[in-house]
Parts: sequence; structure tokens; C-alpha cells
Amino acid sequence: MSFTLYSVTGDDFIGRKELVDELTRELSSKNKIGFSLSGIRRIGKTSILKEVESRLTKQRIPVIYISIWRILPTTIDEFTRVLDRVALSAFEHKLPKKFKFEELLVTGAKALGNFLSGLNLSAKVAEDLKLSLSYIKKESEDVEEAVTKSISLIEHLAEMTKTKCVLIIDEFPSIVELTYGEKNRKMGFDIVKLIRTLFEDFKYTKLVVSGSYRDTLDNLVTKTSAPFYKQLLLREVEPFTKDEFDKFITHYLPDLKFIDSQTKEEFYKISSGIPYNLQLLGKEIQLHDMVKLDSKKLYDIVKTILKKEGEQSFKEFTENQTPSEIKVLKALAKSPEKKPTDIEKDEFMSNATISSALVSLCSKAVLKRRERGIYEFTDNLFAEWLKVSEIM
Ligand SMILES: Nc1ncnc2c1ncn2[C@@H]1O[C@H](COP(=O)(O)OP(=O)(O)O)[C@@H](O)[C@H]1O
Ligand SMILES: [Mg+2]
Repeated sequence: MSFTLYSVTGDDFIGRKELVDELTRELSSKNKIGFSLSGIRRIGKTSILKEVESRLTKQRIPVIYISIWRILPTTIDEFTRVLDRVALSAFEHKLPKKFKFEELLVTGAKALGNFLSGLNLSAKVAEDLKLSLSYIKKESEDVEEAVTKSISLIEHLAEMTKTKCVLIIDEFPSIVELTYGEKNRKMGFDIVKLIRTLFEDFKYTKLVVSGSYRDTLDNLVTKTSAPFYKQLLLREVEPFTKDEFDKFITHYLPDLKFIDSQTKEEFYKISSGIPYNLQLLGKEIQLHDMVKLDSKKLYDIVKTILKKEGEQSFKEFTENQTPSEIKVLKALAKSPEKKPTDIEKDEFMSNATISSALVSLCSKAVLKRRERGIYEFTDNLFAEWLKVSEIM
């Protein structure tokens, strides 16, 4: 079986049945419903979106999937260009005549008008294309108009071809980082508000967004002040259940045996049920041709992985935390049952500092509160890494 660190679909996509069924059902229904998927990074959001995309595509529903992380350079201009390109390719099989987006980009303004009017497009689609393309080609400077036209293009393509369609924006919170103009002014938040206003009137297009950083997604979707407040159904992507973990092992490591059920339990626990961790651990087990796993071998595997991947894998994790947050994390990694009062004594930190670090770490979903005064890591591999790493 081949392991991967990229998103998975089809046979290699394990579990998530309820969520994928619900998304597919609602997005292909007559209801006007959109979704916001949240969950820590590497929990499998993109894979779910891709799986849903492939199911909808099989029903001949055009899906326009874009990931804000793939927009390079990170400008509004590139955003409109990508939207146009992806929208046209999603509708390709429904368009009256095939044409290449890249060709439209090199056609002069006047010739473009003629070309578009010869294509049997609806007037709205032709207009959207003309105006957004002229912005992309730097013939006009009205950025708000350009984004409006690029988003409307999707709705108008759907209207023209009498179909519903779905716009998926992965890593949605990063949209606020998109910049505009020579001064690189950040105007992503305005774009979010614009998208929201446009979607209110859309009849054919449904919206799905996803994000990993809980705080920033909240600002766009869940808070009462957020542009998309109450506009989308909120779904949290959880770690694999025990059952999904079992299915993963059976599919990816069919020959692997566990020396006892406790070892299997430990495997599940160290992975935190995070599919990415399972891919990493699984790859290593396969590399060593292991057929029977015991506790010692499991921890050797974990050590090897942390040595190979830890630095790289958790760098941005640690970069996002303040020194006192890291101190708290290290203390908890060493003894998970530690209460804030124990940390206070052992680490010589003030009660207030520890409390605010814990609140902040929970809002960033690095920790979750199990019960009063007891916190656990959302990613146990990260905890293992903190135990052995040299930082601080
Ligand atoms: N349902 C799944 N079955 C098997 N592997 C998965 C599944 N979901 C995610 N993965 C694996 O986990 C890793 C992270 O998945 P991804 O979808 O990119 O997560 P996210 O978008 O939340 O960061 C990838 O290596 C992917 O192969
Ligand atoms: Mg992703």
C-alpha cells in the first residue's frame, strides 16, 4: 500500500462517512445551504473536500475548488485569475465551445469582445469575463469590480448552463492576507464581505469554506461580528474514531499484527487519530517490513519519525507560540496530569501567565481542556517531540 502526505480520495480515503454523505447530499440538493469545515491542520479537511468534489463531479455538478494556499503570489490579482481559470474549467464540458483561458488572456480587448460574442455565451457571462479579464490583463484598475465579476462568473455560468454548482474555498482564513497594488495593501477582509454579499443573492452556487486556525476562521464565520455569521453550517472535522483507525490499519497495513490489544491502543493514542500522523507512522512501519508490532518497536518508530520529521513538521507549531506558552507545553508534555498549580510551582511562573497561556493554546487548538485543570494535546506526536527537542 502506498502512503502519502498529500490529500487522498477514492479507495485510499478512509472513514468520514457521515460528514461526506451529508456534504454530498446537501450540496447536490435543492436547498440553499453552505458549510464551514474547521479542524486542526492535517486532520483531513482537504481530503474530505476533495472526496466530496469527486462525488459531486460524478453527478455532473460543477465544483470550483480553490485553495488560498496555492495562490502565488498572494495577491488579489492572482485570486481573480485563479477563480476565472478554475470556473471555466469546471464548466468546460457544459460550455458551447471549448476555449482556453490562457488564450483569452493574450487576446486584445477589442478582439476579445468579438470573440466572446461569437461564443453563444449568456450576456452576463460574457460581461463577467470581459471585465475580470481586463483587470487581470491590467487594462483596468477597478479591483472590486474585478472580484465581483470573477465570483459572479461562477453563478452566471451555472445559470446559463441550468445547473447548480459548488464553490469550495480551502484555507479560507488566509484570504485576509491577500494583498493589492504596489503597496501590498491587505484588503482580503473586504473581499470576504464582498463574497458574503454576493452569495446572499446567488440561486445556483453554494459555498463551502474550510480553515485550520480556529481563531481566524471564527473571525470570518462564527463570531456574531463575522461576515458569514449564521450563513453557513459549521462542521468540525474530528480525529479518526477507533473504528476509522482500525479501517486505516486494515487498508494501509493489511499484514501488520499487534502483539496485544494494548499496543494497538498505544498506537492509536500516540497518533491522536490524526490521519497525517498515521500516514507517517505507517510509512515507517512499512519501510522496516514490520509484521508484528510491540510497544518497544512502536516507540522506536516514533523516535525515528521525530528525528526525521520533527524539526520540519513542528517548526511552525513552535513559531506560533510565545516563550511562556512553550514552557507550559513542555511541562505538560513531560507530565500530562500536571495541573496549572503544579506548573506554577515547578516552572516558577505566575498563575496569571499560566492561565493566559492555557487559554491562548486552547484557542489555537494546540491543547484541549479535558476537565477542570486538566489539559491534553490535540497532537500527541507533538507532545512526544517536545519531550526530546532542544527548544528552550
Ligand atoms: N480519510 C483519510 N484517509 C486516509 N488518509 C487521510 C484521510 N484524510 C487525510 N489523510 C491523510 O492525512 C494527511 C493530511 O490530510 P489533509 O486532507 O491534507 O488535511 P488538512 O487539509 O486538514 O490539513 C494527508 O497525508 C492525507 O493523506
Ligand atoms: Mg488542507
